[in-house]
Amino acid sequence: MPINDTLGRPLRDLRVSVLDRCNLRCTYCMPEESLHARGVFLRPQYLLSDGEIELLVRAFSRLGVSKVRLTGGEPLLRPGFTELVGRIAAVEGIEDLALTTNAILLPRHAVALKEAGLGRITVSLDSLDEKVFRTMAGERGTVKEVLDGIAAAEQAGFEKLKINTVVQRGVNEHTVIDLVEHFRNSGHTVRLIEFMDVGNVNHWNREMVVPNAELLKAIHDRWPLRPVTQQAASEPARRYEFTDGKGEIGFISSITEPFCGDCSRARITAEGLFYSCLFSARGVVLRDKIREGMGEDELVEVIGEIWARRADRYSELRNQLPQRQPHVEMYRIGG
Ligand code: GTP
Ligand code: 5AD
Ligand code: SF4
Ligand code: SF4
Repeated sequence: MPINDTLGRPLRDLRVSVLDRCNLRCTYCMPEESLHARGVFLRPQYLLSDGEIELLVRAFSRLGVSKVRLTGGEPLLRPGFTELVGRIAAVEGIEDLALTTNAILLPRHAVALKEAGLGRITVSLDSLDEKVFRTMAGERGTVKEVLDGIAAAEQAGFEKLKINTVVQRGVNEHTVIDLVEHFRNSGHTVRLIEFMDVGNVNHWNREMVVPNAELLKAIHDRWPLRPVTQQAASEPARRYEFTDGKGEIGFISSITEPFCGDCSRARITAEGLFYSCLFSARGVVLRDKIREGMGEDELVEVIGEIWARRADRYSELRNQLPQRQPHVEMYRIGG
């Protein structure tokens, strides 16, 4: 029962945050000084259980979702995460199951995740320069741990990883070329992400955004690029390939080139709130409905109704809004 929103956009992708905790404290997501970073996380009883997540995935699948991405916080910190992956992979209609992780725990889990049916992995890595990395990760984790995680994913048989790099003016912009060079010809794809005004605690300001057009030019000057022609309209990344055949690079430009027009993404937080946009202030409570006995058919109906009313296009409207609006935190909604 595929369904379109008020702007004619189908529901195709579901992003599920499985946990709001993280072993890093990235300044653009969960800065150390924020209340949450100091330990105000969801207690286990408030988290959706594996069965509840599976039920939701089934309902979304019936509404047209074939692509599921598991996010956090850091998903690998969730106890029993591999079993959850197995359950979602087995849901009828789910053709693409992906994970976004900081990779630090991958050496422990990569093989089991592959066996459980995980299809793709995206790794967040902002710099190969240890000092810059530590500054952005809130003085936690090391570049080596992330690279070991990437190696573990490769050994487990995950190919073509995506490497997510959030770029901030004056913070890591000078290390971008090194990072691109490192992953050129590796089979993996670096995606450069404009620093976004998600959440309420990351001190976002426009001066800290490096427009991706600038980075595209700098990279093109060094290694000529051409746009990839076959791109799914709903993909957040604009893809380019190196003309010398050494791979691809992506640009996610939510600030300078919003991509709401084809946005087919729904999001569920670890506590079961449904958000129809990354920048929503409020979500719809689904967990309690499930706990009060709502079954799959009714969930399909409720979610379908919400999607049919959807009109979100925050990134396109950002410049017209008077001041920064309240948003759900990134480590809750998972990006
Ligand atoms: P694929 O499944 O490989 O297409 O993954 P993806 O690029 O959708 O997911 P990923 O989690 O790697 O997200 C990359 C970056 O794009 C993150 O910074 C996300 O927050 C951002 N992003 C993803 N979807 C959206 C969106 O709908 N709106 C905005 N503004 N940003 C998004
Ligand atoms: N702006 C842009 N990207 C962000 N991410 C987290 N916070 C932000 C932000 N403020 C990215 C992470 C991760 C992805 C899911 O979202 O780096 O790779
Ligand atoms: Fe953790 Fe990812 Fe947020 Fe960094 S961006 S604090 S790794 S959830
Ligand atoms: Fe979709 Fe909202 Fe992102 Fe626009 S800002 S692409 S509507 S999630």
